[in-house]
Amino acid sequence: MRLTVIGTGYVGAVHAACMADIGHEVLGVDIDAERIAALTSGRPPFYEPGLSEMLMKAVDTGRLSFTTSLTEAAWFGDTHFVCVGTPQRPASGAADLRHVEAAVDGLAPYLHDSGYERVLVVGKSTVPVGTADRLTRRLHAVAPYADIAWNPEFLREGCAVQDTLRPERIVVGARSEQAVARLRELYAPLLDAGTPFIGTDPATAELVKLASNSFLATKISFINAMAEICDATGADVLTLAEAMGRDSRIGPRFLAPGLGFGGSCLPKDIRAFTALAEELGLGESVAFIRQVDEINTRQRLRTVHLAQRLVGGSFADRSVAVLGAAFKPHSDDVRDSPALAVADEIRLRGARVRVHDPEAVDNARAAHPALQFALDVAKACEQADVVLHLTEWPQYRELDPAALATVVRTPAIVDARNTLDPVAWHSAGWTLRALGRPRLG
Ligand code: UDX
Repeated sequence: MRLTVIGTGYVGAVHAACMADIGHEVLGVDIDAERIAALTSGRPPFYEPGLSEMLMKAVDTGRLSFTTSLTEAAWFGDTHFVCVGTPQRPASGAADLRHVEAAVDGLAPYLHDSGYERVLVVGKSTVPVGTADRLTRRLHAVAPYADIAWNPEFLREGCAVQDTLRPERIVVGARSEQAVARLRELYAPLLDAGTPFIGTDPATAELVKLASNSFLATKISFINAMAEICDATGADVLTLAEAMGRDSRIGPRFLAPGLGFGGSCLPKDIRAFTALAEELGLGESVAFIRQVDEINTRQRLRTVHLAQRLVGGSFADRSVAVLGAAFKPHSDDVRDSPALAVADEIRLRGARVRVHDPEAVDNARAAHPALQFALDVAKACEQADVVLHLTEWPQYRELDPAALATVVRTPAIVDARNTLDPVAWHSAGWTLRALGRPRLG
């Protein structure tokens, strides 16, 4: 099938490459000419395992090409995926739909009635309930032979390719059987491999994404609230999480306690969900989500306080090493990164802060120019009064605590992701503190 993908950010670039990989002819569209030039030569605009190889192959075989022209997109095929961003509005937290509307408005005048197949515009962006129906009215005013369906995207950064090729479900919300049938055909290779397909109305499809991300955020904040209780009672949150997670009704995933969630989705989506519910006069139904947000933000300050106690109560004239800048491992994304929020706060409290990250230093430097960065862990830790482990890259688990102890001024570390082995660090002479865990020494 021939399809276009409008918006080549995270979701769009991965979707375009994966759709080409399963055999479709794909045209990626973006207003950013520089990005289009990079993608045309097979270079993804961000770090994502496996994507670069897949892009290169798809471009080489000619199944994937790129353009900045919506006119070209309209003529390319009958199915158009809209994958543009829906950022958070600064004041209300609600989703800003400007880019989605611009994509649909920009495409509409060039769409043409082929006579036999209706044109299908498929939204993938995360939007408030009612957006698909509103956009349909807008689109029909210009192109009455076009339909809109909603097909939310659940991919996680760091495993985006795998999540797109082997999703746990495909959800499609549409008002016409023809639209559902088109998307079933398009996703046939994934459905044949056993992916469940949930066909529904647009409102439910729009809601699934916000509800799922709010549930995931709730799970994380729940275990972080338990970590606070553990700190006050001497209990161990890791054992607690393991014991809870063994209950198959609860499950072990998204119960990793620590510094909490960040990134471009979870924080934005829970705020958009609250704003949406309030608009509907149902703020009370999701009042707990505000607390989920508050618990999450509080973990950043708890981490700062743990470190501050380790350096004797004040950061003035102290050197602090930060391990991790990305909002999570296997990603170079620093949007709403808890690690950088902590690094900034510590710097504002008077410390010299040196940050290390295996992939995200360039993005972190651009977004936080006041911080200092080091290209290797030893350099970041040189003469540090305390080390903060803030993003759980696997290589940090492999660090040799004895070797690192010879580099720092004081062997003290905060493990805000609970993935280091406290016994190994303690045996090598370190004072290790973690959120929700009993002290070893
Ligand atoms: C999330 C959703 O998982 C995905 O389905 C949706 O499409 C986009 O938003 P992503 O933001 O890529 O994906 O990352 P995810 O793996 O969900 O992690 C989000 C944040 O939660 C990270 O900051 C991570 O460190 C944190 N997290 C995750 C925890 O603190 N504890 C956990 O147990 C799991």
